[in-house]
Amino acid sequence: MNLSAKYSACLKGELLCPGDKSISQRVLIIGSFLNQEILISNILASSDPICTANALNQVNANLTFNKLSNTVKTVKRQMPFQDPTESLDLGNSGTGARLLTGFLSGLGINATITGDKSLSSRPMKRIVEPLTKMGFKLNSNNHRLPIEITQSIGSSFFEYNSPISSAQVKSSILLAALTGSIETKITEPIGSRDHTERMLKYFGADIHSEIKNEKNIIHFSPSDLSIQDENYYVVGDFSSAAFLIVAALISEDSEIIIRDVGINPTRAALINVLKEMGGNIEFTKVKQVSNEEVCNILVKNSQLKGADIGGDIIPSLIDEIPILSIAASFADGKSKISDIGELRVKESDRLNAISKGLDAIGIKNCTDNTSITIEGKTGYIEQIDNIKSFDDHRIAMSFLVAGLRSKRGIIVNNCENIVTSYPNFVSDMNQLGSRIDEVK
Ligand code: S3P
Repeated sequence: MNLSAKYSACLKGELLCPGDKSISQRVLIIGSFLNQEILISNILASSDPICTANALNQVNANLTFNKLSNTVKTVKRQMPFQDPTESLDLGNSGTGARLLTGFLSGLGINATITGDKSLSSRPMKRIVEPLTKMGFKLNSNNHRLPIEITQSIGSSFFEYNSPISSAQVKSSILLAALTGSIETKITEPIGSRDHTERMLKYFGADIHSEIKNEKNIIHFSPSDLSIQDENYYVVGDFSSAAFLIVAALISEDSEIIIRDVGINPTRAALINVLKEMGGNIEFTKVKQVSNEEVCNILVKNSQLKGADIGGDIIPSLIDEIPILSIAASFADGKSKISDIGELRVKESDRLNAISKGLDAIGIKNCTDNTSITIEGKTGYIEQIDNIKSFDDHRIAMSFLVAGLRSKRGIIVNNCENIVTSYPNFVSDMNQLGSRIDEVK
């Protein structure tokens, strides 16, 4: 499916932010382990969490996903988790594959994890290595999927110094620690998103973090979990809101409100960067929901200026680099985004995908292995080569937002994968006043 996007005078209006993908994945997994009746609302009914829910049901989790009401019901299981009869297909979801590998290893389940072409090319050594050191038996295809988990028992204590700041690695280990009852200490160079820690704490786990010598250290001790409430609300996905925020910033006379957006500081650092670039963004009605900070975000059109971004802030805006590159493209002056080598192993090689897309719309840029420099343009896009999405949802949505600055319109090819994280992206954008259409 190819989509076209065109200049529209302004974006106006208010909408509810779709549920957070990372949190949706975690509450499906941890919720199924709680083995109690829970109603999860505002869950993201996109293909990534749906793949995770299906995989969990294959091991007897008993989750009922209602895609129309964005809810999931978990019920008390009559039987324990069991080995699946077929392999577990996690589709495009790195979070699903990596977190479930840890979770199932600790449970002592025999299973094979598979995924689509993009997921099958992504690195899995980062989880296979620590989980193996924990005592679990895993076979991978040269550190790629499929991963075969063979029933095994982990050690009673595990300490891991992670070479990278990755919430998926940390969470895979923590979920293996949870289901395998393993006392665990993890050190990461810079704190990555902490949704797993917050959720485990919310459900009564013995877990705490500390910063020592600038590193983030997480301590987990096995204990029983319990629920405080039979209802769990998934806060809005900051990463989805980010597309709307940048869209409003770069479109003339725009003013929008996005409701119930999760603004966990380990996720929402893009806001600090955009404000520093001159973005008119305000938080209202800040509150705590499900042990996550949430608020409404008011955004007004602003002339941005270029910025230098890099270092410790990167893990807390790692998924927002594509849309940040679009903001930088329409800023006054040059921007440099450094220390983003991890982008090479996301759903696509995002550094390459961003650079190729910017070339196609005539925005001067240059990349090296770990950074991109972008020369902003305060006017409109003139060049209109079709843009390749590289089958990557965030690349597709970022360039559709860039289309707001094209009077002739731009076309982004192969946008199918938008459904992995933000199925209502086109209708939400068009409800605010953009003009995104399918090209027949
Ligand atoms: C995620 C962690 C990040 C992020 C991904 C979701 C998570 O990946 O890019 O989209 O839910 O834990 P890494 O752990 O590889 O940095």
